[in-house]
Amino acid sequence: AQTDKGAYPYYMLKEIDEQAVVARTLAGHYFNDEGEIVGIGCGIGDTIKQADRLYIIAAGTSYHAGLVGKRYFENWANIPTEVHIASEFAYDQPLLSEHPFFIFLSQSGETADSREVLDNIKRQGFPTLTIANVMNSTLTREADFALPVLAGPEIAVASTKAYTAQIIVQAILAYSLGDVELDLKQELAKVAVEIQAITDEKMTFQAIAESALQNQHSAFYIGRGMDAAVALEAALKLKEISYIQTEGFAAGELKHGTISLIEEGTPVFALLTQAKTAGLLRGEVAQVAARGANTITISSKSLARPDDAYVLPEVDELLMPLLAVIPAQLIAYYATLARGLDVDRPRNLAKSVTVQ
Ligand code: G6P
Repeated sequence: AQTDKGAYPYYMLKEIDEQAVVARTLAGHYFNDEGEIVGIGCGIGDTIKQADRLYIIAAGTSYHAGLVGKRYFENWANIPTEVHIASEFAYDQPLLSEHPFFIFLSQSGETADSREVLDNIKRQGFPTLTIANVMNSTLTREADFALPVLAGPEIAVASTKAYTAQIIVQAILAYSLGDVELDLKQELAKVAVEIQAITDEKMTFQAIAESALQNQHSAFYIGRGMDAAVALEAALKLKEISYIQTEGFAAGELKHGTISLIEEGTPVFALLTQAKTAGLLRGEVAQVAARGANTITISSKSLARPDDAYVLPEVDELLMPLLAVIPAQLIAYYATLARGLDVDRPRNLAKSVTVQ
């Protein structure tokens, strides 16, 4: 059954491994054999095309998926896009554009703060779409439109496959709205192959986790652009299950404060997949290394240097978050395993937060 761990010690590892299959499932669901989009009703496209701005509302990992999705809507569909934390937006609504369109991102479709925003927005009469993994949920039922994330049941509290799947659905939706010179269906097939290749190298990430994070009480993930968005999710994964205090942030902010936290041996993971800012990020890695940090750089093939800890295969640069997050998920998993903690059930956390 889909909710059976099978030979896996933890659901989280099973769900990390399922990401290649989920990418293929989504490509199969949303495209026909000719590579045309079929899984998105024209009502959604027509309504979004009347909007002057998109507002993505989400919490936790889904919020992080929204930060990546924003780039697709802006780069491929040419629509200004804001991403908001549901628990903030619900009680302190910012000034809206004239014709906003709301996208709710959620694994469970039940998060109370997101539901609160949806209620508020419906009262104001603006159009809404929910992208969720659980299709028969409050958020999918109550929005004007809904699109499935198709990740299958996610049991581990730390979300993995719902994150990558939400990113893919946003990419497909943005692609359907624009005129992009990219065969997204084919590119997603490549993404699936490369996710598989990365998850096949578990020992590498186990070794990184055990050497870099043993006896550490804090860690950092840095990146720029899309990698800064992934750094937030990477840090959340590590901290929420291993209890190692981990901060993820835009690398350029290091010099404005955080660099004072670097001590001898502090692990600093750098995600380096974006060509425009690779040089600047290399500089930041050197700066923390000079202050004693243990730098672990995860780069993409064309930007790699010999002493990088791991080199990612390459797909379209905007889709690199789908690959860059995999090592972070596996490092979080193995760091937690090494500490003898329950990977699937971290203390104090719930899979679905239905209270405000
Ligand atoms: C909880 C879960 C997270 C999730 C967040 C938002 O905190 O533990 O994994 O990202 O809620 O949930 P949603 O179901 O709306 O994506």
